Amino acid sequence: MASLGVNIDHIAGVRQARRAAEPDPVNLAFLAELGGADGITVHLREDRRHIQLRDVELLRATLRSRLNLEMAATAEMEAIALRLRPAMVTLVPEKRQEITTEGGLDIAGQEQQLTALVGRLNAAGIPVSLFVDPEADQLRASQRSGARWVELHTGAYAEADWAGQPKELARLIEASARARQLGLRVNAGHGLTYQNVEPVAAIEGMEELNIGHTIVARALAVGLEAAVRQMRALVQNPRREPLFNAAFP
Ligand code: PXP
Repeated sequence: MASLGVNIDHIAGVRQARRAAEPDPVNLAFLAELGGADGITVHLREDRRHIQLRDVELLRATLRSRLNLEMAATAEMEAIALRLRPAMVTLVPEKRQEITTEGGLDIAGQEQQLTALVGRLNAAGIPVSLFVDPEADQLRASQRSGARWVELHTGAYAEADWAGQPKELARLIEASARARQLGLRVNAGHGLTYQNVEPVAAIEGMEELNIGHTIVARALAVGLEAAVRQMRALVQNPRREPLFNAAFP
């Protein structure tokens, strides 16, 4: 049964749109926990467009669930991670111009640097997950890096139309099986919604889904606690039959 990591970046995004004090993602993380979030995920970006360092520090001090810190593989972020010691670090690629994380890490292209960083984080007792596309060579490189986890990028699946989704789902299923054969533990995320999450949650061995935008969007209508509770129900008890073309739940 997969667990749910709630990404609260977009709550901070609303705050930063006005450089105001509200909404405060730290306070609202508490409501996400009440709704059943197994963990809270934040991406502290170099440009600080949504989550701020103060948010990560306060979340680290106040969360009852787990803090998953998404970050680029930079010296600045490494120092922050080693100081704050989140429950998990997820290494992601980061480009200034992108609206959101666009692709998985290209591990092969920076294997030495990533392996060294993973080693230092592991030595500090911080589990590391690598955000990768569901591709065999990236999974093999992830294993060589010493990371214990991968987060499979579900963006291609989420963006495919209904005709294309089964093929993208099959890639995720195959990647999950391959990762586990390599001894890696498997999370997934990006672009998952109330409509498309269930087949991914049902993948054998899937441990945690990190979901943000759709939960924050639904929270505007039903409140954050209810939005998290509804998503957690789908993640924990997904329908097993294919739901492409299925009606809105
Ligand atoms: N996982 C990773 C590594 C991400 O970068 C993001 C987006 O910040 C998510 C999960 C969550 O994606 P979404 O907001 O589309 O649910």
